[in-house]
Amino acid sequence: WDARPLSVWRYKELLPVHIEPVSLQEGGTPLYHLKRLGEEMGLKHLYAKHEGMNPSGSFKDRGMTVGVSMAIQLKKKSVACASTGNTSASLAVYAAKAGIPAVVLLPAGHVAVGKIAQALMHGAKVISIRGNFDRALEMVHDLCLTHGLYLLNSINPYRLEGQKTIGFEAIDQLGCVPDRIVLPVGNAGNISAVYKGLLELEALDFINSLPKMTGIQATGASPVVRAIKENLPVVQTEENPETLASAIRIGAPVNAEKALVAIRKTGGTAESVTDDEILAMQRDLARKEGIGVEPASAASVAGIRKLVEMGAIDRDEKIVCVVTGHLLKDPETVIKQCEPPIEIDADLPSLLSALHL
Ligand code: F0G
Repeated sequence: WDARPLSVWRYKELLPVHIEPVSLQEGGTPLYHLKRLGEEMGLKHLYAKHEGMNPSGSFKDRGMTVGVSMAIQLKKKSVACASTGNTSASLAVYAAKAGIPAVVLLPAGHVAVGKIAQALMHGAKVISIRGNFDRALEMVHDLCLTHGLYLLNSINPYRLEGQKTIGFEAIDQLGCVPDRIVLPVGNAGNISAVYKGLLELEALDFINSLPKMTGIQATGASPVVRAIKENLPVVQTEENPETLASAIRIGAPVNAEKALVAIRKTGGTAESVTDDEILAMQRDLARKEGIGVEPASAASVAGIRKLVEMGAIDRDEKIVCVVTGHLLKDPETVIKQCEPPIEIDADLPSLLSALHL
């Protein structure tokens, strides 16, 4: 592998695709050392893997390059998904690259504008339903079963095959297995995918320890956290999930049981963070580290800040937080938090006065 560049397809022997993949150079995302934020928290080895640097601006591209390649390999004619936004943007991009039609179902009024813009521009058929993501997923599932479209939500195992490469890359970049990998959890596909990949590396004797898998949810949409804290055997769904981090506004995660196994078997944990804690971390990542992420993505690092404050983290741990989507996905939430630009007359005295000089 060493001669191959960092990317999803560096690990092709561990992926199910046997044709030329539908690819736009996904993966190979930066792993940043969070020096300033780490110092503030008393952590020497805090890292962020910036999945917003993928072709469509989120980790979903890792799943879609494999998922859409499999659709072609299996000779499927059209693809579909339900989405809180990023999956639909990514599916639209990869369906365009493959030259096949895509249908995406979104919860009306709860999808960030950048994601809708991508799905529309890349040519997907975009349907907004008057209902939440969990309902959209049930509907698209029925549609695919009855009308032969190929479902590319994370129920589709090939999606998760692509996403497992996040863990492979993090290990390659760090040069060792981190003590902990932290992910924001919505439908719980990504945390399950990363765990599966690590089990494969362990079975191949490439690694001999597993990181503590740690899942972070928003307080208003945290069924997995509840199941972990109350030691429930299964996840109980939430009827009306609510959070400003619209990407993870999910009450009935389809991969929840796998996530519970990942967290429990590795001695990891799950924690919830409030919308205010998420936004505060979004600003801190942007202003103290130069890393622009959408709110759901900031949840992973916000979760670590909370766990450190609770005394639940050993300060010597090597911690990789996956930040899942780019800042520009959700410009409205950004603008609402910031002072507006200062408009002035076009002369130097006005400029100096605006700068208090
Ligand atoms: N972060 C972002 C930015 C996401 O878009 C998602 C999920 C997650 C985290 C959670 O990942 O579902 O694998 O636990 N977005 C899906 C979507 C649901 O439709 O785009 P997960």
